[in-house]
Amino acid sequence: MLLKNLVLTLVLGVLVSSLVACEPDTDQIGETASISQFLQKHWPKVLPPQGEPPANFSDEEASLAPQACGECHAAQYEQWSSSLHSHTMGAGIQWQLQLMSQQAGNKCLQCHAPLAEQKALVALQQGWPNVPSAEIPEWLPPNLADTGLVCAVCHVRQHQRFGPPPRNALPEEIPHAGFTASEAFQDSGFCAACHQHKEHDSPPRVNGKLQVDTWAQWQNSPQAAQDIHCQTCHMPDRQHLWRGIHDVEMTRRALEVQLQVKRTAAGRAQLEVQLHNRDAGHHFPTYMVPKITLTFTLRKQGASWKRVIHKHIIGWQVNVALTEEEFDQRIPAGETHTLQLPVRLPVADASWIIDVDVDVAPREHYERTFRQSMKHANRIPPATLQSLRQALSEAEATRYRLMQLSQTVPAWVIAN
Ligand code: HEC
Ligand code: HEC
Ligand code: HEC
Ligand code: HEC
Ligand code: HEC
Repeated sequence: MLLKNLVLTLVLGVLVSSLVACEPDTDQIGETASISQFLQKHWPKVLPPQGEPPANFSDEEASLAPQACGECHAAQYEQWSSSLHSHTMGAGIQWQLQLMSQQAGNKCLQCHAPLAEQKALVALQQGWPNVPSAEIPEWLPPNLADTGLVCAVCHVRQHQRFGPPPRNALPEEIPHAGFTASEAFQDSGFCAACHQHKEHDSPPRVNGKLQVDTWAQWQNSPQAAQDIHCQTCHMPDRQHLWRGIHDVEMTRRALEVQLQVKRTAAGRAQLEVQLHNRDAGHHFPTYMVPKITLTFTLRKQGASWKRVIHKHIIGWQVNVALTEEEFDQRIPAGETHTLQLPVRLPVADASWIIDVDVDVAPREHYERTFRQSMKHANRIPPATLQSLRQALSEAEATRYRLMQLSQTVPAWVIAN
């Protein structure tokens, strides 16, 4: 028999807020407090072990394998499988873990494979000193760590399920002893567990800036003021895809480019470029990792003559050692950066066109880091080196062209 134990904190929440509707301030505070209380409990710094599953759970209910969840939640499983959240334990982190102590490695796992059970499995894989003495139980699939942020990372604590308030009528019988609903699943704070460095962890800074600061950027965004949360943009219709900078469509939503060319003299023109962060609810891009390069080329109509006249990089460029900022040309949410480019036209009377290619390198910073590490290839064990090579070629393969724009330089008209 399956137990039914549906705890709907939402129902309570709605009741409370309708009772105090005449006092909007208290309502606001009460609701925020309960979300933040939930989040504090759900995301402690280190996730404790799940413990033994309830005795009345079937094997399928007890399993932490995402495939087991997928037996009943097929849509979420399919979407999650194609998302980057299911690839957080790829070659890019694997080769680094192989060179790390358990203590240092566990810090990375905090965001890349945070379940206590996953950390234990990684420790076994890596041959780290602190490993569980007990045998791996049935409900813990041995490959749980290799699949990254499995469903249980966000949804299961002590074998209990947690999720957002349900949208549809629920079936009579719910497996896994029902679930606890919380609006915290629809709050940006839910994502902050990994997408924001916390002050109390004395996180690393470059030029005084946090390396991972997405939640704080969001909090200062026009979108936050309109109550648009991470989930609104990254999980539309509750989809488990989490598309971001690796996705052409998503990135096109973020960046708007406008060009205007003026003739200033017979052989001269002025190009004004407006770069607008239209729809990312944080800096575009949010981290130091991605770079967006705009290449400006001048060409003569009907001829093969062309010349690169300027390059501009949108992003936060930091050295490989993470000690120096080279530049920070990220565009905060809702803001516009304007470039003024003087253009010399080699022949005054030809008709000229300016082309702009916009190219995205979603993992530029890692590409540089990995290439730097390759220089020490002779000191890296062969298996680790193989993962490093794979990580580098995977990172390079994520590059794509975002858009191409063209603008004709108007003819030089002498006013009379
Ligand atoms: C035997 C089938 C079955 C298995 C296995 C199963 N679930 Fe469920 N789960 C359900 C059903 C049925 C519901 C009720 C809501 C619905 O129909 O989606 C539910 C509800 C949920 C909810 C609440 C949805 C909401 O509206 O908030 C979450 C979250 C959830 N399950 C997560 C999981 C996770 C994570 C796993 C694997 C660790 C899992 N489930 C395994 C059948 C299953
Ligand atoms: C605070 C949470 C957090 C911690 C701690 C963390 N990461 Fe990450 N990591 C992220 C996020 C978020 C991304 C996605 C950023 C992006 O794609 O720009 C990421 C991306 C990566 C990537 C690129 C993706 C890939 O699979 O190739 C690598 C490599 C990586 N991290 C390695 C590490 C290593 C090594 C450590 C420990 C030294 C670590 N991370 C610690 C959150 C974290
Ligand atoms: C990174 C965290 C995260 C992971 C990993 C994750 N989910 Fe979710 N899930 C969420 C959030 C957040 C929501 C609520 C989204 C919203 O309401 O906008 C949600 C919603 C759900 C719902 C309710 C869907 C609905 O339509 O009402 C189910 C069921 C669910 N998840 C199952 C799963 C399963 C199964 C997996 C693994 C295949 C999984 N989740 C992986 C964060 C996660
Ligand atoms: C347990 C830690 C964790 C939580 C919680 C989490 N993420 Fe992530 N997220 C990561 C890591 C690590 C990556 C990097 C994946 C990679 O590239 O290997 C990532 C990647 C992403 C990406 C892909 C970015 C890209 O480079 O294209 C998006 C978008 C994203 N997360 C959004 C969210 C949202 C929205 C939430 C809240 C519902 C959330 N994440 C919750 C750890 C987390
Ligand atoms: C208004 C919509 C919107 C909101 C709100 C939003 N994002 Fe994004 N996000 C985007 C778009 C569009 C992109 C792709 C362009 C880019 O990379 O900035 C993106 C990219 C990302 C990336 C890819 C890495 C990078 O360097 O840009 C991550 C990670 C991410 N978002 C996480 C989050 C988290 C976490 C939140 C909430 C704190 C959030 N986003 C809120 C629209 C949004």
